[in-house]
Amino acid sequence: FQPGVLRSKRVLITAGPTYEAIDAVRGITNLSSGKMGYAVARAALETGAEVILISGPVCLDTPPVAKVVRVTSAQDMLVAVENEISRTDIFISVAAVADYRARNASTQKAKKTNGNITLELAPNPDILEYVAGLPNPPFCVGFAAETENLEENAQAKRQRKKLPLLAANLAQDTIGAEDCVLTLFDDAGKHLLSKAPKLEQARRLIRHASLLYEERQKR
Ligand code: C5P
Repeated sequence: FQPGVLRSKRVLITAGPTYEAIDAVRGITNLSSGKMGYAVARAALETGAEVILISGPVCLDTPPVAKVVRVTSAQDMLVAVENEISRTDIFISVAAVADYRARNASTQKAKKTNGNITLELAPNPDILEYVAGLPNPPFCVGFAAETENLEENAQAKRQRKKLPLLAANLAQDTIGAEDCVLTLFDDAGKHLLSKAPKLEQARRLIRHASLLYEERQKR
């Protein structure tokens, strides 16, 4: 592995959760600290890549990337990705994007009642699926946090979203943790990255992704 292998390449990373407002003070979100996505940004920087980070709401120090775009909702994140995607060589989608948003979000604070209320949800766009489905997509890396059947769920996701590489982990072991175990799935099969701090895992992931990326470039 050459540390400079991604030098002059542009790597776009999404990280953190998205937040979908229900009203002025309430919302739906996913459990995500953003630690893995930010570690991936740092690991990509170490290779000499130009890194663009699109981040949902997190409480983390910003890595010294070329550009950070801060977003709140999945729809904001999609717009930010659309704005950056054309010059991107590698897209790494680490964000825990909320799958649904409130259909009729209010800008006022809704009043509490004693009865049950119904919240209607609309599906959010799948940002990674959109990028991987572009006519000339960048090299796409996905993440999957599962609570069970890691391998089956991860493989199904990789196929459905047409990804050359997907990194999967167990949500209950990973969310908010400093260390994690990652399993990478690619055309060659499955690669287990044993438990390590997220920055070290991110370096291993970037190394693996850059090798696959280079192979693709040679084809
Ligand atoms: O949520 P899911 O398990 O399908 O996420 C798998 C991958 O797809 C992750 O890389 C995530 O960042 C991405 N994703 C996305 N937009 C969504 C849902 C997921 O980009 N709406």
